[in-house]
Amino acid sequence: MSKDNFDHNAPIVIDALSKYLDECDNSNTRVIYQPPMAEIIKDLNLKSLIEDGRLEGKNLQTFAKEYLKTATKLHHRHYMAHQVSIPHMTGSLGSLIDAVTNNAMAIYEMGPGATAIEYFMINWMLEKIGWHPSPIPGGKNIDNDTPYGGGVMTHGGSLANLTAMIAARSATFPNIWRDGNPGNIVVLVPEQSHYSLKRTVAMIGLGEKNCISMPADEDGRVLPDEVPTLIEKLHADGKKIMAIVGNACGTAAGLYDPLEQIGAICRDYGIWFHVDAAHGAGAIVCEEYRYLVKGIESADSVIWDAHKMFRTPVVCASVLLKDHRHLDHAFSQEASYLAHEKEQPGVDQIMRTVECTKSGLGLKMFMAIAAMGEEGLADYISSRTKLAVDAANYISGLDDIECPVTPETCILCFRIGKNDARQLEIRKKLLKDGKFYISTTEYKNARWLRCVIINPKTTLDDLKELIEEVREINAGLDG
Ligand SMILES: Cc1ncc(COP(=O)(O)O)c(C=O)c1O
Repeated sequence: MSKDNFDHNAPIVIDALSKYLDECDNSNTRVIYQPPMAEIIKDLNLKSLIEDGRLEGKNLQTFAKEYLKTATKLHHRHYMAHQVSIPHMTGSLGSLIDAVTNNAMAIYEMGPGATAIEYFMINWMLEKIGWHPSPIPGGKNIDNDTPYGGGVMTHGGSLANLTAMIAARSATFPNIWRDGNPGNIVVLVPEQSHYSLKRTVAMIGLGEKNCISMPADEDGRVLPDEVPTLIEKLHADGKKIMAIVGNACGTAAGLYDPLEQIGAICRDYGIWFHVDAAHGAGAIVCEEYRYLVKGIESADSVIWDAHKMFRTPVVCASVLLKDHRHLDHAFSQEASYLAHEKEQPGVDQIMRTVECTKSGLGLKMFMAIAAMGEEGLADYISSRTKLAVDAANYISGLDDIECPVTPETCILCFRIGKNDARQLEIRKKLLKDGKFYISTTEYKNARWLRCVIINPKTTLDDLKELIEEVREINAGLDG
């Protein structure tokens, strides 16, 4: 029955999606449209569909069409709002394969192919960072004596940061798992760090106030020369530093911290060095921008989101460790019904993650990248950064609009006038009109309009058009 259902209904959904993608290519289509929730629930006929249980054929066709009308159109070239990929279609097909097979691969037997691909992709990333890949069970050249890296994929960068901090905690304070927090542990983060780090520090019981920002330059990059003084002061106050975090890159404006210098400080003091490369890992695989992550190999842990700049459908992130043992020991718990001594030709990832059930994250990432090839991927990443820089250069020739900083990745911030509230009003009107979808951010004590130039189709002309629109809205608000 379910096979008949699939054969009958899958083409209906594929057809609706294909029309949706055509719509996204039409410049008259609104990129964002937010009707009230009650209206959506009514228009999609949710109540009667769930009661009747006949979501197939014609009903399915109508439902898919109506649902897609409510979708925010990331494939539209005026989508520039958030750090969420425009998935490569082959990556999206990976999601479909994963959804149909449902190989929840926390343990090898629940998805040998899915686990092997995740393992392969983790090794691919470890090698790109400059670390030793994990030996492959059943493969040649297993040398268990060489220290090698390890990693695991997680459902998002926030969970990856949490997982990395749990590994740092177990490496630095191995008794915490059993005894609890002694009360004097701190974590040093960049002023521009993602909120998930502060949240992690609070969640793992260290107390939010013990997530301490390091001194920063006027653009918000960590000032490495001032970090030793901070460390000495904290030590003198009886604090113990669990980890120091560097951004590659920051969320608001997309700037990279000086990883090489921060790494050297961590080495001198014997402190765990974590790099948050959730957004900026593109520079690791892009020769042209590799200099931005110089020194990343000196880290102990790195996180890397594929659902940002790697054209992979949400969600897909990785936590990567220079020494796999720290991840193996991070969660000192036992789940005997799942993890027990057994002979098997692969590995169970379950003891390395917060999650128990997990999707085939590696499959989606692999399929997206394998469709482009490494060169295609690097070209895409560098083209988006170049476009952000070109747009900033264009803006520098305008009298009424300014950028706070030259972009180092695909994130472009700008504003018209100096009024913070006005930037929010402009975005509100842009979203209401639906021609462009952008975000805003607080940065350098001011509010900025913010574009994440992540869509491969966006051009400089689109950004010039956006600027014209912003000017018109601003003039209208003045009037
Ligand atoms: C630097 C950085 N770290 C972590 C995250 C969290 O990633 P996720 O949204 O996948 O949870 C983000 C998200 O924007 C980010 O920019």
